[in-house]
Amino acid sequence: MITKPTIDRIMEATDIVEVIGEFVALKKRGANYVGLSPFANERTPSFTVSPAKGIFKDFSSGKGGSAVTFLMELEKFTYPEALKWLAKKYGIQVEETVDTTENLEEQNHRESLMIVSGYAAKFFHESLLETEEGQNIGLSYFKERGFNADTIKKFELGYSPDQWEAFTGEAIKQGYQEQYLVESGLSVKRDNGSLYDRYRGRVMFPIHSFTGRVIAFGGRTLKSDKNVPKYVNSPESEIYHKSNVLYGLYFAKRAIREEDNCYLVEGYADVISVHQAGVENVVASSGTSLTVEQIRLIGRLTKNITILYDGDAAGIKAAIRGLDIVIEEGLNVRIVLFPDGDDPDSYVRKVGSSGFLNYVKSNSKDFIEFKSEILLKDIQNDPIAKANAFTEISKTISLIKDDLKRSEYTKIASQKFNISERQLIGIINKNISDELRKKRQSEERASEKLIQEENNIEDETSINTGLSQKELEAIAYSDANQEKEIIRLLLLYGNKMIDWDGIANTYIGPFMIAELSDVEFEQPVTKHFMEIYRQEVENGVLPEEQHFIHHPDKGIVDLVVTLLATKYTLSENWYEMHKIMVPDEQANMKATILGAIFHLKKQKVGKILESLRKELQTTSAEADQEILLNQYMHMKKVEKTISDYLGSVIIK
Ligand code: UTP
Ligand code: MN
Repeated sequence: MITKPTIDRIMEATDIVEVIGEFVALKKRGANYVGLSPFANERTPSFTVSPAKGIFKDFSSGKGGSAVTFLMELEKFTYPEALKWLAKKYGIQVEETVDTTENLEEQNHRESLMIVSGYAAKFFHESLLETEEGQNIGLSYFKERGFNADTIKKFELGYSPDQWEAFTGEAIKQGYQEQYLVESGLSVKRDNGSLYDRYRGRVMFPIHSFTGRVIAFGGRTLKSDKNVPKYVNSPESEIYHKSNVLYGLYFAKRAIREEDNCYLVEGYADVISVHQAGVENVVASSGTSLTVEQIRLIGRLTKNITILYDGDAAGIKAAIRGLDIVIEEGLNVRIVLFPDGDDPDSYVRKVGSSGFLNYVKSNSKDFIEFKSEILLKDIQNDPIAKANAFTEISKTISLIKDDLKRSEYTKIASQKFNISERQLIGIINKNISDELRKKRQSEERASEKLIQEENNIEDETSINTGLSQKELEAIAYSDANQEKEIIRLLLLYGNKMIDWDGIANTYIGPFMIAELSDVEFEQPVTKHFMEIYRQEVENGVLPEEQHFIHHPDKGIVDLVVTLLATKYTLSENWYEMHKIMVPDEQANMKATILGAIFHLKKQKVGKILESLRKELQTTSAEADQEILLNQYMHMKKVEKTISDYLGSVIIK
C-alpha cells in the first residue's frame, strides 16, 4: 500500500497534459487539449484533456479519468503501478506501508496472480541454480546454448523439477492459495481435486509484463520425443493475454526508443541470444502472427520494425499476409531473411554481434519491395496469377496513410510489376476511397450514438422547450438521471456556501447529504458515491471533485468524469448547435439544489406509491389492505407536500 501523503505528492506533481502527451499527440484547443484516441481507431480527434480539472475524456471509447486512470487503461497498470510510474517520472520517493499480516487473501485478484507468478519465477530460478537436478539438466542445457550467467539472471530463466508436485507442494507450504495457483496455470487440478505441476522437467522462460512483472511462463522440454510438446505455455488469465504481450519487451524498451527500431523474432531463444550479443532492441511474438495490440505496443516506442525471418519461401508467403496490419498502423516495416538453416539465434552465435548487425543492415528489404518480389516469384507468365498478385500489392499500398510514402511505393511497385504508374494510382485511389467511405459511415453511426448517449440528460430540455425557464430547470433531468444530477451538483457546488434568504449560510454538500439521508440511491455507483461523500462529511471533510477523480474505484472515476466532461466539453457545443439556452443554475442556486433534491424524492415516492398500489391489488386480507391503504394515503400526502413545495411545476 502506498501511503496517502505519497499519493498526494504524486497527484500534486502530475501534469496530465505532460503525462498523456507522452503517448498521444495533443493540440491545444481553447482551455483544453485534443488528440486522436489511443483506445480507438479514429480520424477526427475526440480525445479531450482538461488540464484545469486534471481529467481526460475519450468520446470514442467512452473512457475517461485522471492521469492515473489513463495509465491504467493504456498500459494495463494496476493502481499502485500507475502511481509508481508517475512517482518515477516526477522524482518522488514512494513510501509504502508493509502489509505485516502478510495475508495474501486480502490482496486483490490480479495482484495475487502476479505475486504467485513472481514466486514461481523465483522458485524455478533457484531450482535451476541451486539444485543438483537443475544444474545438471537445466543449467547445462542453457550453457550449451551459449547463455551466460548474467543473461540467465536477467531473464530469470529457470528449471522445473521432473516431479509431479515439487512446485505446487512448496507453494502451498508457503501459503499461496490453490485458487491462484490454478488460475495462473502453474498448477493443474485433478478430477479428485488434488493439484499437480503443469511444468515438469522443463527449462522455464518467464514472460514479463511491460513493467517487468512476471505474468506467464513458457516451458521448453529437453526431450527429443516427438510426442512431447516442445513448449508448454501459460493459459490465458486475468494477468496474461497472449495477444497483448511481446516476449522480451520489458528488457528491450529502452533500446527500442534509443535505436528507433524494433527487431521482431520468432522465439524465446532468439530474443535471448540476440540480446546477449548486445542487440537489445529485440522482441518475439512467441510463435503467433502479430496482433494489432502488439503492434501498438511497439508503435509507442518506435515507428520502425524489422522482422527477422528464418522460414522457407512458402511459410514466408503465408506470414507476410498478416503484416498488412502493421502497415495499416502506420509503421515502417523491413524484412530480413536468414540464410538456409539459420535463425537469429544460431546466426548471432555464429558471427557475433557486429557480424549480425552487418548482415541485418545489408540484407534488410523494405516490406513492399519484399512482398512484390515474393509475389512475383512464382507467377511466370500466368496473367491471372499476376493480376491476383497485383491486386494484393495494390491493397497493401492503399493502407499506407502517409501520401508521400504511398506515392513512393506506387512508383516502386509499378516498376516491379512492369505496369504504368498511372494505372496503379487509379486502382489505389479507388481502394482508398472505398475504404474511406466504409470507415466514414461507421464513424458517423458511432458518433451519432455517442452524442445521443452523452446528451440524453440534456435531451429532456429540448423536448419541453415550450416551458418556462424555471420549468426547464425542474425537468432538465430525466428520472434515470435524477440520482446522477444530485451527484453532479455535489461535485460542482458541494463545497460552496448557500445563503438561505439571508438568514443562515450553509455548505451545499452537507446540506444535501442531510436532506437526502432518507433516500436510498438505486444505482450501485451513485449509491457508492453517496456513501463516500457521506463518510467524508462525517469525517469533517468536504470532498472536492479531485478526491473522486483520483479515487481507486474505476466506476466512481467514470461517473465523475462523465458528469464533469459532459458539462465542460460536449454539452456546450451541443447547446449552441441546438440554440438552446443553458439554464443558469448558478444564478438561482437555491432552486437548483432544492429542485434536484425534491425531484429525486418525488420520484422515489412515486415508486413507493406504485408498489403499494400493486400490493393493494394482490392483497385480499382486509386487515392487510387497511394497513397498505394507510401507508398509501400517507405517501400520497408526502407526495402532495413535495409537489406543493415545488410550486407550480408538477411533473407527470
Ligand atoms: P521454435 O520452435 O522456433 O522455438 O518456436 P525456439 O524458441 O526457437 O526453440 P529452440 O531454438 O528450438 O530451442 C518459436 C516460438 O514459438 C512458440 C514459442 O514461443 C517459441 O519460442 N512455440 C513453439 C510454442 O509456443 N509452442 C511450441 O510447441 C513451439
Ligand atoms: Mn530456435
